[in-house]
Amino acid sequence: MTSTHQLFGFASPVAAQMLPAGGALDEHVPAVDDVYRFDPDVTAAILAGFTHDRRVLVQGAHGTGKSTHLEQVAARLNWPMVRVNLDGHITRMDLVGRDAVVVRDGMQVTEFQQGVLPWAIENGVALVFDELDAARPDVLFVIQRILEREGKFTLLDQNRVLTPHPNFRIFATANTVGLGDLTGLYHGTNVLNQAQVDRWNIVTRLDYLTADFEAAIVTARVPSADRTLVDQMIAVAAMTRAGFAAGDVSTVMSPRTVIGWADAVEIFGDIKQAFELSFLNKTDESERSIFGEYWQRVFATELDTEPTASQ
Ligand SMILES: Nc1ncnc2c1ncn2[C@@H]1O[C@H](COP(=O)(O)OP(=O)(O)OP(=O)(O)O)[C@@H](O)[C@H]1O
Ligand SMILES: [Mg+2]
Repeated sequence: MTSTHQLFGFASPVAAQMLPAGGALDEHVPAVDDVYRFDPDVTAAILAGFTHDRRVLVQGAHGTGKSTHLEQVAARLNWPMVRVNLDGHITRMDLVGRDAVVVRDGMQVTEFQQGVLPWAIENGVALVFDELDAARPDVLFVIQRILEREGKFTLLDQNRVLTPHPNFRIFATANTVGLGDLTGLYHGTNVLNQAQVDRWNIVTRLDYLTADFEAAIVTARVPSADRTLVDQMIAVAAMTRAGFAAGDVSTVMSPRTVIGWADAVEIFGDIKQAFELSFLNKTDESERSIFGEYWQRVFATELDTEPTASQ
């Protein structure tokens, strides 16, 4: 067991189990992001998934670092990981496999091509089902079958029973807890079957971060950003989140947007223009005056929110 202090910068109640480097699956180990900042609670939950083979679901608002947290823990543990984005287009056959026509010795033959799921089960790869709450019901039922620990998986079309490799793991991320979208922010998400939710052993939340932690992330991502300016940007973001909670506005600035804003400041050299390009243009015109008010409160200048009149 390796010290979590060394790997993540803090002691964790859950030990970290690293895999030896140099295996055939090394190319599937995510690249280490040196400036990544780990949240202690979320990291401990993810480590429980790796070390104790538990099913971990990371839930929270958009752009808070759910997907990258999983990836970066895997990167530090040297664990091969594949992310499957469960948008509405992924089908059961994409996951499990399908018969495909191939040409062999000049002849067309039908061959079973295995999907990502049997491959991960047999080779010992951690699978991340990203955006679980957007998955189609047929896909969710496939996932449900493998959620049980040590659960064997039967490839019906092949008459084959797969025994999971000891390093096979399953994680998922979701914006909702599977009870449907109560906020109106996550269009396209579905209510999850409670039998499915029940099978996730650990559910950890990664919602909005403290201002200090968020500032550390933004300056890590955009190192040339001015810290005072970053604090002001996060103050604006905090107002959009409070305003959203109060029902005043319908668009919120995620940590991802704040990073995008800081990045746009670097490119365009103008904080107002960067704000417009990275955030304001995504909002509804009727709410722009409210965002102008937030701006005024933080920067003590006017933000011209009127649409430019054509000459
Ligand atoms: N703790 C962190 N340290 C460094 N960068 C971070 C951190 N958290 C998030 N980021 C950065 O913020 C961006 C958004 O992160 P990520 O894609 O993981 O969010 P998410 O929660 O999965 O979002 P969504 O719900 O929209 O899928 C990424 O560019 C990521 O690198
Ligand atoms: Mg994500």
